[in-house]
Amino acid sequence: MAFWLCGASHGMSEPRLNVLCGVDEAWCMTMEKAFEARAGIDISMVRKSTGDILDQIRAEKSHSTVDVWWGGTGDAHLQAASENLLDRYQPDHEHDMLPWAQNFFAMSGSRSAAIYAGALGFAYNSDLLAALKLPAPTCWQDLTKEVYRGHIQSGNPNSSGTAFTMLATLVQLLGEEEAFRYMAALNRNIVEYTRSGSAPVKAAARGEVLIGISFMHDAVTLKEGGAPLVIVAPCEGTGYEIGAISIVKGSRNARAAQAFVDFALSPEGQATGAAAGQNQVPSNAKAALPPAAPDITMIKMVDYDFATFGLSDERSRLLTRFDTEISPTQ
Ligand code: F6P
Repeated sequence: MAFWLCGASHGMSEPRLNVLCGVDEAWCMTMEKAFEARAGIDISMVRKSTGDILDQIRAEKSHSTVDVWWGGTGDAHLQAASENLLDRYQPDHEHDMLPWAQNFFAMSGSRSAAIYAGALGFAYNSDLLAALKLPAPTCWQDLTKEVYRGHIQSGNPNSSGTAFTMLATLVQLLGEEEAFRYMAALNRNIVEYTRSGSAPVKAAARGEVLIGISFMHDAVTLKEGGAPLVIVAPCEGTGYEIGAISIVKGSRNARAAQAFVDFALSPEGQATGAAAGQNQVPSNAKAALPPAAPDITMIKMVDYDFATFGLSDERSRLLTRFDTEISPTQ
């Protein structure tokens, strides 16, 4: 029996479970409450962007303060797995996972499990577009046009898993040299590289910027909340993320960490996403799809190469190129 079904009744005083949360703050909070109520285990949950979590786990390699890394793009979880920073664990619900999720788990060497998927895209504020009398962008190439100078935000791929997914997507769509030429042209239109990947569409939703490049599900959440956003699946095709969960090597709360992973993969745990207004596609075949979630089967998608872009060397190489050729990270 999973520990979390019986742990609370043992009267043991479990230490607090330290979770780094890579999804939206609203989901972090909903999950924290749901797990504490279900398992009787206290959580300390902190939201960070994917690259920042990977950096923290690397820096704390010999004295980890983190038990679970929940959410954020799976390429970085794969990198941590390959650097031996994660523990192996076979979650209770792994057999109920959709095929792409089972593949991801196998690719990680049983060190990281998929919890959701979502496609990359961009969204523009239709009120602002009308006020500025600009044409509607529909393709990646449109974003490099001079009319959008100073009108686009994107994440910084060093911190943001969303933005790293974009970089890797463009390399797969265009080839590496052309992708860097594209990024250089896009850079002329970028007003700011943000730390988090959903910040660009949040800024577009508030009308602070015209176009935000982010995962489409984040834009859907904002649109459902009434923001005047038009969400675009770029005409050339796009990439996608597999969001993941992992137990950090050196966790001092291994059983509670395993209980958290089991809960996160259960239909009940996965329903916390929709309950928090989120729109990723859940990895458990028995979990309900949020009604507004983008239908990723209808989007023209690259055959995303997680094995290559989940390699630590590949990540460092592309980030170094981004920092030297496109935009030096402050
Ligand atoms: O906001 C949720 C989300 O888009 C997740 O689907 C994704 O894994 C994560 O944010 C990526 O965040 P960041 O780009 O800040 O690392």
